[in-house]
Amino acid sequence: MVVHGEDGSVVRSERFVTAVCTCRRSKIYPLCDTSHREVRREG
Ligand code: FES
Repeated sequence: MVVHGEDGSVVRSERFVTAVCTCRRSKIYPLCDTSHREVRREG
């Protein structure tokens, strides 16, 4: 899979599951690294 970023960058991934990050929190943006999951610990 090849992902074309908005900034013109091209990212290629051979991972079986590839998700495109839409939250921009990912360290490997434009690919999702599951950083979109906020961990909240209250109490
Ligand atoms: S959608 Fe951004 S890290 Fe998953």
